[in-house]
Amino acid sequence: MTNGFPLSTPLLAMVLALAPTSARAQGKPTTAAAEEAARAEVLALKGDGLIAVPPWVEILAGDSMGVGWMTAEPADGHVEWTQKPGEAADSDWRRSTASKHGLVQANSTIQKAVLKGYDPTKPLRLRAVSRPIVKFQPYKVEYGEPVKSVEVEIRPLRRGDGSASFVVLNDVHDHIQFYPLLTPLPGSDFDFAVLAGDIVTDPMTEKQVVESLLLPMAWLASRGIPCFFLRGNHETRGAMARRLHEYLVLPFDRYYAAMTFGPMRLLLLDTGEDKPDSSVEYSGLVDFDAYMEDQRDWLAAEITSDAHEAATWHVAVQHIPPDYRTPPEKKWYGPTRIETLFGPLYDAGKLDLIVAAHNHRAAVVPPNPDPSRGAQYYVFIGDAHPLAKATIQRVDATPKTLRVRRFQSDGTVGAEHSWTRP
Ligand SMILES: [Fe+2]
Ligand SMILES: [Fe+2]
Repeated sequence: MTNGFPLSTPLLAMVLALAPTSARAQGKPTTAAAEEAARAEVLALKGDGLIAVPPWVEILAGDSMGVGWMTAEPADGHVEWTQKPGEAADSDWRRSTASKHGLVQANSTIQKAVLKGYDPTKPLRLRAVSRPIVKFQPYKVEYGEPVKSVEVEIRPLRRGDGSASFVVLNDVHDHIQFYPLLTPLPGSDFDFAVLAGDIVTDPMTEKQVVESLLLPMAWLASRGIPCFFLRGNHETRGAMARRLHEYLVLPFDRYYAAMTFGPMRLLLLDTGEDKPDSSVEYSGLVDFDAYMEDQRDWLAAEITSDAHEAATWHVAVQHIPPDYRTPPEKKWYGPTRIETLFGPLYDAGKLDLIVAAHNHRAAVVPPNPDPSRGAQYYVFIGDAHPLAKATIQRVDATPKTLRVRRFQSDGTVGAEHSWTRP
């Protein structure tokens, strides 16, 4: 049910059982059959009726969630939700949808709803309902029969004991089998997942967006897990890059955000592209210098906010990591821009930890031993495909402790660090 992994745990056992003895001895599960089964598990969520992609859940704030789903043809849609366990009467279900510029979302295959006003300390049961739009006239819209999605039960985002936990998956690069295989490794008692960029490699078609991003988010929701999607430098490329936001429910219509979970202020930052805007690869179509400066201004305001100052722990998740150890002449433009624009704010905002991605090589960057040079925070960088090398990172915050662990795909902890405050 909500916190279990009924299909995934046997899959992982299958990986370990089928791996050659030598690979198993080295802790390197690489079995193609298990990866294929895991991939099929995610793709099996695709529907062949009106509901083409079942609901996924995106975090909008500590007490607000966006729900997305897709229909096979233009439809309307709302979400029915309840926090009553067991048999719920019709009157126990509330309705939410989304509207923009005064118009309720409809007449599209992409469906959205924004949920507020629920108790974030309790599980949230929800299902999507859509009606095909048979005829859309100026003064009359005709609908077909309503269709309900499967129900998902999302775990509580807020805990009674004031603690918070989340996991970070990064650089999946369309290897969707990683979700069933990696997500169970850090345990099932975390609150949400952050997808930290390069989840979809250069999105070119709606099919790719569906299979590499929306179905994995729906798979997470089917396990009770809400998520936040952060762009990497590969989601800014490809013919679908400019349409990606249409499929997502984003806080304030932005790809970056700041939210409070228990004692932790969480910054979710968009690190943009890795090369200069003028690079020939971008065909004159990107404008990340200006975008990153806008985000820098937003971050400067965020770190002086009451919410930021009230938090015990300050954690950021972002795709491209800063790393003061790389000499300037060897540093790409993207990381240099991040360190120039965001670097001083990371220190001014007293960041404890940045969880990052992008390098396809796991690493831990400790605080700079020379405090006068800034960078007084840890950077934990996750790895990428193939499965033997892939990682999932987990962050746990309590009022007195902060802990980060990087889990390798064989379940061992490859790196960890803890902080304690009185
Ligand atoms: Fe990547
Ligand atoms: Fe990347």
